[in-house]
Amino acid sequence: MQNGRITAERQVWSSRLLERLLLTDEYLLLRLEAPGGLDFRPGMFVNLQLPGDRFSLPRPFSVMSATDGSLQLLVKVVGRETRRFRDCPADSVFSLAGPLGTPFPVPAGALLLVGGGVGLAPLLFLAQQYRDRVTLLAGFRTAAEYESLAAVLPPLSQALLATDDGSAGSPGLVTELLEQHLAAGGCDYAAAMVCGPEPMMYRVAQLLRSLPTWVSLENYMACGYGVCMGCVVAMSDRNLSRACCEGPVFRSDLLQGYGSDNG
Ligand SMILES: Cc1cc2nc3c(=O)[nH]c(=O)nc-3n(C[C@H](O)[C@H](O)[C@H](O)COP(=O)(O)OP(=O)(O)OC[C@H]3O[C@@H](n4cnc5c(N)ncnc54)[C@H](O)[C@@H]3O)c2cc1C
Ligand code: FES
Repeated sequence: MQNGRITAERQVWSSRLLERLLLTDEYLLLRLEAPGGLDFRPGMFVNLQLPGDRFSLPRPFSVMSATDGSLQLLVKVVGRETRRFRDCPADSVFSLAGPLGTPFPVPAGALLLVGGGVGLAPLLFLAQQYRDRVTLLAGFRTAAEYESLAAVLPPLSQALLATDDGSAGSPGLVTELLEQHLAAGGCDYAAAMVCGPEPMMYRVAQLLRSLPTWVSLENYMACGYGVCMGCVVAMSDRNLSRACCEGPVFRSDLLQGYGSDNG
């Protein structure tokens, strides 16, 4: 077990759609009913399913915020199920399972968060909970993508932006922004938390080699709670771990390809 498994009680429940905000054609904000008393922490996820289609299967989504009675998810529309979430009737009832996975450990001290696009979801949960001690480096493709998500981002005093096309914030990839941030001395952090496309996470882990860094993996999953072995990832000690249970949050140097085994 990499981070020490937190044994949250997993529940399955029927959940009314309380709110659906279409940020753009591509991004949705869903607020869904949740039973009180569930211990959702940043980095954990839910398996979300919209019944009514016999081919429908649950899909994993990071929790972006949790209050007693509801959960917020940031969903990027990429395929069959996420299109159904965008287009379903407003009174739809989903099936939810959670809390799933192991959350980010949160050491004392300043935290550096690095994320891109929809990978920001679990980092925004961290930013809400630890607002006084986080700096978020956020990457977007364009200013339009940034503006569509601006409503859910922390204030700019805590966030630095990069856009691939240079139309807002620093031009280039969020990894280039991180290089600039480190070169400018912005490196007095206790730990870093990262979520986004895998090449971005590899690069961030390399740049932050001397800082304890946790990455949240968004690989393919099926059951979401440890029985199907459909989500295993290779560790640097050559063992396998289940991303849905021991992860999705892993310390980067314990994952094959991220740490010292990568040269
Ligand atoms: C722990 C975890 C947390 C996640 N959190 C979020 C989140 O907060 N917001 C969000 O929008 N998405 C998140 N995802 C990804 C999300 O689960 C997938 O985008 C979703 O399952 C796609 O379903 P679909 O039926 O719309 O797409 P499909 O029709 O199944 O696939 C459409 C396309 O997306 C690709 N794809 C599907 N799933 C994944 C995946 N897991 N990784 C990479 N490519 C994929 C497929 O290869 C295909 O090209 C998370 C995944 C994991 C494992
Ligand atoms: S998704 Fe089934 S074991 Fe992880």
